[in-house]
Amino acid sequence: MASSTLTITDNRTGKRYELPIEHGAIRASDLSQIRVAPGEPGLVSYDPALINTATCKSKVSFIDGERGILRYRGYPIEELAEKSSFLETAYLIVKGELPTTSHFLMWQHNIKMHTLVHENIKQFIQGFRYDAHPMGILIATAGALSTFYPEAKNIMDLESRRVQTRRLIGKMPTIAAFAYRHSRGLPYIYPDNDLSYTGNFLSMMFKMTELKYRPDPVLEHALDVLFILHADHEQNCSSTTMRTVGSAHSDPYASVAGAAAALAGPRHGSANEEVVHMLHEIGSIDRIPGLIKQAKGGERRLMGFGHRVYKNYDPRAQLIKKIAYDVFEVTGKNPLIEIALELERIALQDEYFVSRRLYPNVDFYSGIIYEAMGLPVAMFPVLFAIARTAGWMAQWAEMVLDDEQKIVRPKQLYVGHDERHYVPLDQRREGGAPEVEVHGPL
Ligand code: SDX
Repeated sequence: MASSTLTITDNRTGKRYELPIEHGAIRASDLSQIRVAPGEPGLVSYDPALINTATCKSKVSFIDGERGILRYRGYPIEELAEKSSFLETAYLIVKGELPTTSHFLMWQHNIKMHTLVHENIKQFIQGFRYDAHPMGILIATAGALSTFYPEAKNIMDLESRRVQTRRLIGKMPTIAAFAYRHSRGLPYIYPDNDLSYTGNFLSMMFKMTELKYRPDPVLEHALDVLFILHADHEQNCSSTTMRTVGSAHSDPYASVAGAAAALAGPRHGSANEEVVHMLHEIGSIDRIPGLIKQAKGGERRLMGFGHRVYKNYDPRAQLIKKIAYDVFEVTGKNPLIEIALELERIALQDEYFVSRRLYPNVDFYSGIIYEAMGLPVAMFPVLFAIARTAGWMAQWAEMVLDDEQKIVRPKQLYVGHDERHYVPLDQRREGGAPEVEVHGPL
């Protein structure tokens, strides 16, 4: 019977080592026993961007990148998108099980009891320029919330973790909507707890002088499904950031601010914003070949294409593409969809993209829908953050409770100068160090 071990021979010493294999992985720390001589440093694994390194054990999401599978707590996203709601899926992601009726009613109540923000938050947001990017406002405000809830630093207290989770899931839509209303110079709309989670968000975004905002049920449902599809995704950059900041035992608000900051990057959650800018830049189908040529020449990235894990079609992109047509029934077709579909068709026939297994990802079609719904492009990553807060909080709690986790402090491979000694100013030669001009680029 083959044993689940890896036999390594260190050819520098001729020594052999047996390393156990668990869950398809070896422990990188097992490598540290491999050394040239006693007292010498042990072997280290080198993995920039953690491309082939598992940083944790998790039960939250499962992705099979080859087969295009995504499951939350074992449930396929296709079933959740069709049968669940965002709040129910958020419960599943955070708690680990689908709620019973009584638990779901309590969960909904608990979230609704936290949709208001402290009145000072309005003044805080007022401090931003009218054209401040809403992700900047969200990052700053999420971090500021930790000053309102100092008890959040009691991260080992179950009830405190529960309350902060409810507060963040409840308040993110409010902060997002307030950021939008600030940019438009419109009065802030307070939460309407008679409405659904997404209905309330649309009300806080778009209510004007009517006594009660009535969300269009098709748009309300479409946004709810989009939130389901963005709720968690294994150890993506922002969830890894959430775990890393949280590993220092910072409070969850500071950790969410860090996670949102990671999500704001165009390689990550702001790609949905960049996709729409790219499609507008293309402008018409006949200009697609020029963009493809630029992407293949390495001059730019095809935004919304490619994924570290999915080497097949991102299953979320398939579902989002379908939602688009439900939304267009209400809003009218967004002409960008034709450009996006043709861009996808051409790219998926092109050897450059096929050989690199670059397919549309979650961000390729979502922005087209958001724009059709009247949401401003700068708000697209903010919508991503609202939904991903459920996943961030689940990943954070899992990290807090994982006995194997410590403060994140990776090693490095030092490739800088050996020891050298101080040279008095008057003895330094002009034009001395030949390296990058004037010691750039750092
Ligand atoms: C999200 O991790 C997650 O799960 C993230 C996410 C989530 O739910 O949390 O799924 C959400 O962030 C989706 C990704 C959104 N980003 C974009 O759409 C931006 C455009 N895509 C990329 O920049 C890129 O594909 C990444 C960042 C998504 C993945 O990058 P990798 O895995 O580091 O791949 P790479 O940069 O090493 O690229 C491999 C090759 C390179 O070419 P060669 O060096 O082999 O010649 O593919 C090329 C890249 O140049 N390539 C692209 C490309 N993406 C990769 N070429 C053109 N267009 C692209 N989009």
